[in-house]
Amino acid sequence: MSFDPAFGYNFDDLRTLAKRRLPHGLFEFIDRGTEDDLTIRNNLDAFRRICLIPRPLRDVSQRSLRVSLFGREYPMPVCLAPTGAAGLLWYEGEVATASAAASFGVPYSMSTGSIASIEKVAEKAGGDLWFQLYLWPDPAMSHELLHRARDAGYKALIVTVDTTVTPNREFNYRNGFTVPMRLTRRNMMDAALHPRWAAGVMGRYLLSGGMPRFHNLPQSLQRSMTDTRKSGLMPKNDGLTWDDLKRLRDMWKGPLIVKGILHPEDARSAMAAGVDGIVVSNHGGRVLDNAPASMDMLPLVREAVGPDAVLFLDSGIRRGSDIVKAIALGANAVMIGRAAMWGTAVGGQRGVAHVLAMLRDEISRILAFVGATRMEDLSSAHCWQPGSVA
Ligand code: FNR
Repeated sequence: MSFDPAFGYNFDDLRTLAKRRLPHGLFEFIDRGTEDDLTIRNNLDAFRRICLIPRPLRDVSQRSLRVSLFGREYPMPVCLAPTGAAGLLWYEGEVATASAAASFGVPYSMSTGSIASIEKVAEKAGGDLWFQLYLWPDPAMSHELLHRARDAGYKALIVTVDTTVTPNREFNYRNGFTVPMRLTRRNMMDAALHPRWAAGVMGRYLLSGGMPRFHNLPQSLQRSMTDTRKSGLMPKNDGLTWDDLKRLRDMWKGPLIVKGILHPEDARSAMAAGVDGIVVSNHGGRVLDNAPASMDMLPLVREAVGPDAVLFLDSGIRRGSDIVKAIALGANAVMIGRAAMWGTAVGGQRGVAHVLAMLRDEISRILAFVGATRMEDLSSAHCWQPGSVA
């Protein structure tokens, strides 16, 4: 499975196709961030501001995108970020996305807020599976999810810590979209205007047992999630502290990754709590509005944690060149959220494979332009920003 011109040539093409296919409320739920979408803008601006300097006349005929993470080799520095509700974009969208990741040999992170269950994705997709956990006020709930992930063979645990309270997504007030989806008059009208989605996704769920529900969560919790403004796909996290992270460390023996760190001091605290990796992330601009771009904080975080810590960067990756910039400025690998989701929305497994092929080809091309043959050759010397000296 590889690049397919039917899905377009870049992120914007895919987004346009997804916009046509998905109901408006669902499209906005994926596409937008929170409040005035300033964090999303910061993320995109940060990548634009950083230039890459071409370095010709070096032999770059043999290029490798391989990276090593937690003692394993991966063919390219790209992981699929956890994205709840991917199963609303495509029938069994999590299985489709994880299958594409498996075919490329890159990790798929499964969100707590998935439609498909932990066990179903392991059984039907396989591959290198990581599980993303929101810490629940009731530790028994977190323990249960963690044990299920371990028993199903998930290799790494990602704990997301940036969603302290429910984000303010005013656009979902306006468009009437709720999580889980409800069959309101308005939603049905929206679905009717998008018949391919209505038949191919919602229709198939309805035929196979009813409205899509979040199979990793107990029914009682799903009922309390019907208002996206007041709840969402995550528990209330405002009582959690670093001690909770330390307790989690004691319970999970495999690689533990903390996601949603931007401040260098917090990165140091996370390392002190014993995590194996950090995702420098503002959640794709979906939690605190006008937070700094992850890309702007990355060099500061790298400086704080030293050269050996495993750092991932996410939020705003749209091109292979963004990935090259992230690696050059301190990341070991990146995570992609919306880029993969648009792939899922337009073509399921084939759509996500298209995205991965596109990014792989772009990274390889950019490596050649900047005169590098391996990911570990990249450094800040490949980048330039107005005001800096090359
Ligand atoms: C997310 N993200 C997310 N993160 C997480 O830890 N758990 C989750 O359940 C979700 N759910 C989710 C849903 C949707 C619709 C989106 C777009 C994102 C955040 C995700 O893991 C990642 O941090 C961002 O998506 C990265 O930004 P880009 O690549 O989308 O710009």
